[in-house]
Amino acid sequence: MTVAAAPPDGTAPPAGTATPTGTASAAPVGVADTNQHYDLDPEIFGLFLDSRRKYSSGLYRSEGLTLDSAQLAKLRFVADRLGLRGGERILDVGCGWGSVVLHMAAELGCHAVGVSPAGRQHAYIAARAAELGVADLVETRQGHFETLDVEPASFDAVSLLGSIVHMPDLDLVFRRARAALRRNGRLYVSESCFRNAAAHEEFDRRGGTEFVRDSIFGWGDMRPLSELVRAAEDAGFSVISVDDLTEDYRRTIEDWLVNVADRADRLDAISPGLAATLTRYLQVANAGWGFTTKHYALVCQKSR
Ligand SMILES: C[S@@+](CC[C@H](N)C(=O)[O-])C[C@H]1O[C@@H](n2cnc3c(N)ncnc32)[C@H](O)[C@@H]1O
Repeated sequence: MTVAAAPPDGTAPPAGTATPTGTASAAPVGVADTNQHYDLDPEIFGLFLDSRRKYSSGLYRSEGLTLDSAQLAKLRFVADRLGLRGGERILDVGCGWGSVVLHMAAELGCHAVGVSPAGRQHAYIAARAAELGVADLVETRQGHFETLDVEPASFDAVSLLGSIVHMPDLDLVFRRARAALRRNGRLYVSESCFRNAAAHEEFDRRGGTEFVRDSIFGWGDMRPLSELVRAAEDAGFSVISVDDLTEDYRRTIEDWLVNVADRADRLDAISPGLAATLTRYLQVANAGWGFTTKHYALVCQKSR
């Protein structure tokens, strides 16, 4: 998910701040706690996301795509960018409700390991893996990637879709991703970014972060692409591609907004006022695309 954006007049809440708040004390030092959002009732996400509960951008590159087909297209795009052909080992960091691990296991026979600190996501993924007949290929580990034990040089691919925004120490994350990869393994990161360092600086200093930071996530920081590239290079990666997915994320969020409106009664039955809160957040996020914010897919290789 994207953390925050603002329309060109800057009236909407700006991005999350660099200071963990809310339930942050539950997380280890150096990591941020976003479980207040991701540990909500999984049914909430089933009501406004696609059928795979993929909580990140779809890919709308052909006419007439539904949210579901755009998310499938995106999963195939991720597999392609990672160079997966079948049977590889993939580590999905910030696995959400398992769209990546379940897809890579079911479609490509990959051994897929998902990581997330949010406890409720793990039971959900285990149940879906059993339903899809891929329980032997899918494993999840609960915890923050920054502090979790991961076998070194044991994965062909590492992915982070919409999760690095929740990780305060970029250098640590890229270093750990590289350490987890075998030689020539690839890292895929797709993330919402401020369009440059000046926009990042300006919105970090504005007031009014409370709604997005406290009411939705707990912590998030959208760095410009240049910061992600710098951290990737410093960790020893070669950058092999960058795709601009900004318009795709705008379309994705439009589809989520339609779902929130259509199912407002059911969302409010789970948590009164939830439909309005989600609508406000998603509208704010969509107002900034192209003005203050962008969404990119960055692919890197451990080539040495
Ligand atoms: C926006 S969701 C994206 C989920 C999934 N990648 C997808 O595309 O559907 C962000 C995910 O990152 C997880 N997350 C947040 N902080 C994390 C951390 N430090 N380590 C690993 N996962 C984290 C959240 O629990 C959540 O599952």
